[in-house]
Amino acid sequence: MSTRVVGIASGKGGVGKTTLIVNLALQLTELGKKVLIFDADLGMANVHLAFSKSISHNLTDVICGAVSLEQTIVNLSEEIDLIPGGSGVADLADLDKIAVSSIVQAFSAIEGRYDYLLVDMSAGISTQVLTFLSCVHLKIVVGTDELGSISDAYSLIKVLSKQYGIENLIYLPNRVSSSKAGKKLFGSLNHVTTKFLNKSLEYIGCISEDSLYCRVWDSTEPKGVITASSNAYAELSAVVSEIEKHSAFSSLEGSKGLSFFLDGFAS
Ligand SMILES: Nc1ncnc2c1ncn2[C@@H]1O[C@H](COP(=O)(O)OP(=O)(O)O)[C@@H](O)[C@H]1O
Ligand SMILES: [Mg+2]
Repeated sequence: MSTRVVGIASGKGGVGKTTLIVNLALQLTELGKKVLIFDADLGMANVHLAFSKSISHNLTDVICGAVSLEQTIVNLSEEIDLIPGGSGVADLADLDKIAVSSIVQAFSAIEGRYDYLLVDMSAGISTQVLTFLSCVHLKIVVGTDELGSISDAYSLIKVLSKQYGIENLIYLPNRVSSSKAGKKLFGSLNHVTTKFLNKSLEYIGCISEDSLYCRVWDSTEPKGVITASSNAYAELSAVVSEIEKHSAFSSLEGSKGLSFFLDGFAS
């Protein structure tokens, strides 16, 4: 099975990356997909909290050779597994070659087991984020209509496209007042990046402000997809269907496992 790798980043923190990852994972499992989440938000790793799970090992333990990557895998649900990033790894790009190759080796051991690998990244511009984003098939930048979020998203997109030549960025507006407002927010940022960076962004949908959508953080609620009565439900389903049919994965046909992700790491 070839694994589709989706990276979720943002210019500013707290804009809804992890909430999106968890909801995406739940929706994908509804479609019968097996999902692995890599919590690469190394400063604020918290995916496990949405599933009320505790972590005993993380990537730091893998790098120092204490455990294998497999041993860090936490079963969040029957169909969703997690690789906890941990907070001790300041910057993956600064790791020495041995450490990086041990991560690469570790990922090859689990390749082929998952339909999707969803990578939750740290906010902002760091070499670690840039390294990860250059390795994934689908690159999603999440942002809200807050001024700080818009300008930080612009700065991130600028560095990604101008300095790192990373193309095909998706901008996904979150916490918007309606789908129409989301499309408008996308349009404004896309206008600016097209004008000043000569880069157009891709639209795969947006997510409205919706408390039901955030129920994934409620430890008393059973984990499951958000209900059909939620505004964000239809939007999330549309985003999932765009992801499912996305051409970024077409190069995967015939290839195996996580090779694309590993190639990026190795280069
Ligand atoms: N569409 C939304 N509607 C309402 N609240 C949201 C939405 N998306 C995220 N939130 C809230 O925003 C906060 C930050 O979200 P989180 O996913 O942790 O952000 P990040 O991972 O980018 O730091 C959380 O309290 C979450 O419940
Ligand atoms: Mg987060």
